[in-house]
This record gives sequence, C-alpha cells and structure tokens, in this order.
Amino acid sequence: MTAIKSKTPREYWDEKAGFFASDERRQQHRRMTDLYETSCWRYIEPVLPPKEGSLILEAGCGTGRWVYHLAPMGYRMELLDFSAEMIQHAETHVTRQGLGGLVLGYHVRDLCDMSALPDNGYDLVLALGMPLSLCSDPVKAAGEMFRIVRPGGHVVCDAMNRHRTALDMARKKNMTQMFNALNTGRVVADSGLTHHCFSPDELVSLFADEGFDACRTAAITPFFDVPPSREQVAILDDDTLFNQVSNIFQAVSEDPGVMAVSSRLLIVGQKQGPV
Ligand SMILES: C[S@@+](CC[C@H](N)C(=O)[O-])C[C@H]1O[C@@H](n2cnc3c(N)ncnc32)[C@H](O)[C@@H]1O
Repeated sequence: MTAIKSKTPREYWDEKAGFFASDERRQQHRRMTDLYETSCWRYIEPVLPPKEGSLILEAGCGTGRWVYHLAPMGYRMELLDFSAEMIQHAETHVTRQGLGGLVLGYHVRDLCDMSALPDNGYDLVLALGMPLSLCSDPVKAAGEMFRIVRPGGHVVCDAMNRHRTALDMARKKNMTQMFNALNTGRVVADSGLTHHCFSPDELVSLFADEGFDACRTAAITPFFDVPPSREQVAILDDDTLFNQVSNIFQAVSEDPGVMAVSSRLLIVGQKQGPV
C-alpha cells in the first residue's frame, strides 16, 4: 500500500494562495475582517515610524494585508512569506494597485530564518495573521524579528491564545487537542498543521527573552470565533451592533480577564537601544 504523503506547511499555504487572493475571501466575513483590522490598527498606528526614510516589513504577509493600508499612506515596505505562491499573488496585486514603487522587496523566506535580511534593517515589523503560531519554532521567529528590527523600532505580532484554544477544543469534544493545548500549547489543527498557542504572559516572556522591552498585549478578537459562527456574522452585519461590539472591544482589549479568553492575542514589543 502506498503511504499518503501529508502536505508540508509550505505546500499547504501555497495551495491556499489562490483563495487568499480571491474576491471570495475578501467578501467572506467582511465585517469580521473590519473588526480585526480596526483592533490591530489601534496598536499599529501609535508605533508607525516617520515616513521619510523608514522601512516596514510585513512578515507572513500572505497575499498582503497591511501593505494596502500603509503603502497608499506613503510608507516604504517589504513583504515576506515562506509561500512563493502567496508572494507571487501579493506582487501581482501590489502592482495592479499601482503601489509597486513603494514595495522595495519581496522575500520568499521562513520567519524562523530570515538570514537574508539585514540586522537592524526595519523600523517596524508586522507579523499579523498569526505566522508566529503557524511557524515551526516561535522562539527562533521572535529572535529573528528582534535581530532585523532597528533599535527603537517595534514589532507588532498576533498569535493564538492557548486557553481559548483549549476551550474551543473542549466545545468540539476534541479532548486530545484540548489536553495538548493545556499541556504543551501546541495543537494539531484539522488541516494537519501544528499551531503554537500562548497565554498573554507566555507571549510577553517569549518576546522579553529575545530582548524586547515595553511589551504590551491586547485581545483583538475577544469573544468571537475565528472564523466567526453564522450567528456572530449576523451580529456583525447589523451596523448598530457592529459599532457597539467594536466600541466595547476597544474598551476591554487590555483587561486581563478578556485577554484570557480572546481567540487572538496581539503583542507589541520594542527593541531598545541607541536609535
Ligand atoms: C493566516 S495567513 C495570514 C496572511 C496575512 N498576514 C493576513 O493577515 O491576511 C498566514 C500566513 O503566514 C504564512 N506563514 C506561515 N508560516 C510561515 C513561516 N514559517 N514563515 C513565513 N510565513 C509563514 C503563510 O504562508 C500565510 O501566508
């Protein structure tokens, strides 16, 4: 009998690239995307560098998300993903949007080994859409992000929440993965990929151990599932409810109890040192 070869993470994401680039994805859960981006933006905006002479890396960029917000504002950017297909779609889309002049580099690289990128080369590194949870070695990835960001610069990163993942697994009656989340912080998703999950304190320790200072964590999708349930989508489709949810999330995003149950956590770390 021939053994069925399981996909590598890179192959998995290469296969997803067409969907990530599609209008279907953009339309699916549009309001959840708005909520997620609004939540993240509250933490990105305060750490944006001056536009003049600065460089921002969007790491684990997929087909690009923040580049379509930041490049139109005049920021110079580079994009990195370990999926060549994702990067190819990103480049096509950036060019189509007329933003090519502001995107100075495309890197098909693993977050855990960005050795082709210079030390202290970026004013801001965004690793959103949870590449830290998806990569093979979050310690290496955090170390690499520390190495490439310049002193005084920031990293904004999101990740899966360990205890919320355990809760979600318990709701699905998947006790094996519930125990994995609780005991090791690692779960095997339906895709077959391993996800690394963190409590807020673990995320801060991971960053602090690599040298980051002034780490700040936040809940970015406190009470919603990712992807959202049908009922949650219906709530977000109602304008009044959407605004109420968005405002209340903003108000509670740094409450420790809320962070403990948020499906996604965000961390902002700064690399101290002479600027
Ligand atoms: C959920 S998608 C998010 C894409 C994009 N950041 C967004 O917010 O729409 C995760 C992305 O992380 C990338 N990724 C996963 N592991 C990675 C790794 N070790 N190094 C670089 N990219 C990785 C995948 O290829 C995929 O494009």
